[in-house]
Amino acid sequence: MIFCGYSIIFYMSVKFGSLCGLLKMRFCFKLPTQAILQEENMSDAGNTPLHIDLRRHLREQDENRDLIRLICEIAEASKYIINAINTGDLGMAGTSNLYGEEQLALDVLSDRIITKRLMYSGVVACIASEERDDIMDVDAKNDQKYSVAFDPLDGSSLVDVNLAVGTIVSIYQGGNLLQPGRNQVAALYILYGPRTTLVYSTGKGVHEFGMNSLMEYTLNAENIRMNDGKAKVYSPGGQRSQYSAGTEKFVQYLEENGAKLRYSGGFVPDFNQVLIKRSGLFMYPHLKSAPDGKLRLLYELNPMAFLIEQAGGAASNGLKSILDIQPEEIDDRAPVFIGSRDAIAMAERCIGELG
Ligand code: F6P
Ligand code: MN
Repeated sequence: MIFCGYSIIFYMSVKFGSLCGLLKMRFCFKLPTQAILQEENMSDAGNTPLHIDLRRHLREQDENRDLIRLICEIAEASKYIINAINTGDLGMAGTSNLYGEEQLALDVLSDRIITKRLMYSGVVACIASEERDDIMDVDAKNDQKYSVAFDPLDGSSLVDVNLAVGTIVSIYQGGNLLQPGRNQVAALYILYGPRTTLVYSTGKGVHEFGMNSLMEYTLNAENIRMNDGKAKVYSPGGQRSQYSAGTEKFVQYLEENGAKLRYSGGFVPDFNQVLIKRSGLFMYPHLKSAPDGKLRLLYELNPMAFLIEQAGGAASNGLKSILDIQPEEIDDRAPVFIGSRDAIAMAERCIGELG
């Protein structure tokens, strides 16, 4: 009898609970903005307001409408790249699939996905892609439009071993892409990992967004700042036997000071780890066999250097800031040390002294 009474009370409270849940859901559907505001108030514990999507964030930063459009086009393109990564046969370019159809390698496909969107966006002056030999002139003389340099799928060879890859984008106003990275008006990357995240800056701080189940980018963290103090992790590209004396000294310094080695082989995830953990560095230094290192200034280094400086970090080729290098050609390479400010200053000291 007592048991039966408890069961009825339990049943009624469950019913009551789900009724409240239902009412709450109906309420949310009827008054979305009010529901969002309520949710936002719940974020008082942190400083980052929740449920802000990328377009709204850009608008609230008072960005130019065309720049907002451009960044949102790239964010849209990333959805198709995700689909290609998840569903594509991992064939090489020029090979054919089961049905005898020609397949595109993922990096070529990603390039086409982004290029097409940019070409028809109505806001683009010039396009340069790591996958193409020449700059594409869309409306180069128009100073009001934007030029874009991008690496459509950095680290694409890591897809077949299921490691993280990314898209990196650099944006300038007007039709000139051969100018120092300091003149960028915006930079961003998208990381395709266990989750998809997008990190951008228009020169007003660095902000991270996460892709939700509706494939919308919503704000994760605003105004990311690198911490002061010792680097916690380091990601060293290239073979150590090929390092110069200066780089070797720098690595020894890092190890003696407790930095842990964390290298995935993908620039975007390796860099993202440094930025999101707010400590550490990535480097692909000048090698004895490759004095200019490996990474490309326009497509890879300038955008990441812009982001790290916006976050209070630094990026150097060992001698000067990456953002002050004048590019000669679109495929220029440069050595890179990028991350915590103190660590990069130390790298410059070692390279300045020993080369
Ligand atoms: O695009 C170049 C890249 O794939 C980067 O993502 C990565 O940091 C680097 O090459 C890795 O080079 P390596 O294979 O020499 O370590
Ligand atoms: Mn690349």
